[in-house]
Amino acid sequence: MPALSFSGTEARASGVKLEDITKRFGKLTVFDGVNLEISPGELFSLVGPSGSGKTTLLRIIAGLEVQDSGRVYIGAKAVDALGPAKRNIGMVFQDYALYPNKTVMENITSPLTVKGTKKQDAVRDAKEIAGLLGIGETLDRRPGQISGGQQQRVALARALIKHPDVFLLDEPFSNLDAQLRFSARKFLKDVQREFGMTTIYVTHDQSEALSISDRVAIMGSGRIHQVGTPKEIYATPADEFTATFIGSPPLNVMHITISGGASTPLSLPLEGLADGNYRIGVRPESLVLGSGPNEAVATAFEYAGRETIVYLGIGGVEMRAIARDVSGMSTGQTVKFSVQPSGVHVLGKEGA
Ligand SMILES: Nc1ncnc2c1ncn2[C@@H]1O[C@H](COP(=O)(O)OP(=O)(O)OP(=O)(O)O)[C@@H](O)[C@H]1O
Ligand SMILES: [Mg+2]
Repeated sequence: MPALSFSGTEARASGVKLEDITKRFGKLTVFDGVNLEISPGELFSLVGPSGSGKTTLLRIIAGLEVQDSGRVYIGAKAVDALGPAKRNIGMVFQDYALYPNKTVMENITSPLTVKGTKKQDAVRDAKEIAGLLGIGETLDRRPGQISGGQQQRVALARALIKHPDVFLLDEPFSNLDAQLRFSARKFLKDVQREFGMTTIYVTHDQSEALSISDRVAIMGSGRIHQVGTPKEIYATPADEFTATFIGSPPLNVMHITISGGASTPLSLPLEGLADGNYRIGVRPESLVLGSGPNEAVATAFEYAGRETIVYLGIGGVEMRAIARDVSGMSTGQTVKFSVQPSGVHVLGKEGA
């Protein structure tokens, strides 16, 4: 992407801080004291299952929804008394609703037109930003005459032209097919780096969040379970919710007993755990098939292109493993395996 002359948003990037936010819809308490701090210029993802409160939190930051208590800061300033138009936020939602009867140019300049910016200035900015986003050739067309991916870029351009301090995106790529989605998120990361604005990206796709973000917040039922870099979240999940939500295929969860330093039914490289019963999680990619202290029966194979997901029955539970090479393995066969320590998470001690 070319260097940006579209007069630097970077210098103005503002952090976002949520302080003790509570929110109720009638009897439903969505948030009961949410705290979150997003650094200036950060690409931050909010990830969680459907209904966990992601959209509601974005809407509170944008001022489209009013919290019952708590404060929202953009930069150093509390913005609670400001309406959405005064918060200098750019937003792209899943339904990004371009004006169908306006040209791409008119769509992109619409926020400036509303503000009363001179037409020639708005057109100049729109041309520049459309060029940066690779849609310079489409300015005279209407949304119905461009592809889905281009429409998405028009929506991004329309949000960026205001020089937002904060950019909020709510599942903006969910309408795209898998390939386009892949390039769209790479594109978003490039744009974000180029423009440097603080960006909060909402998705329920954990792998998407891990792949694009500087940091991620894991949200479940209105509660933030963990905030960290993708690596931290993956390698050291703070709790069982995070551990099981992150990872594909998901974490294998099982019970083991440790007695005299040895664990059953799975022999694991665990050190320093007292005798007792534990709930543990084992990442599918940490099972190394072929040799090792464990034996299981292969119950099914799921072809996934580069690798195969192997289902293993051991001690009455079924585990998933990821294997590159399954030649010579078949259903019903006994498979030896070991487990890499980095993929084992102790979720809790039972009876403790
Ligand atoms: N205007 C509203 N009135 C009543 N309840 C609402 C309203 N908006 C959201 N909710 C409820 O608040 C909770 C959080 O909803 P929200 O839309 O924030 O979830 P989400 O994480 O964005 O989910 P999704 O991934 O499905 O978009 C849900 O239980 C939802 O039903
Ligand atoms: Mg939502």
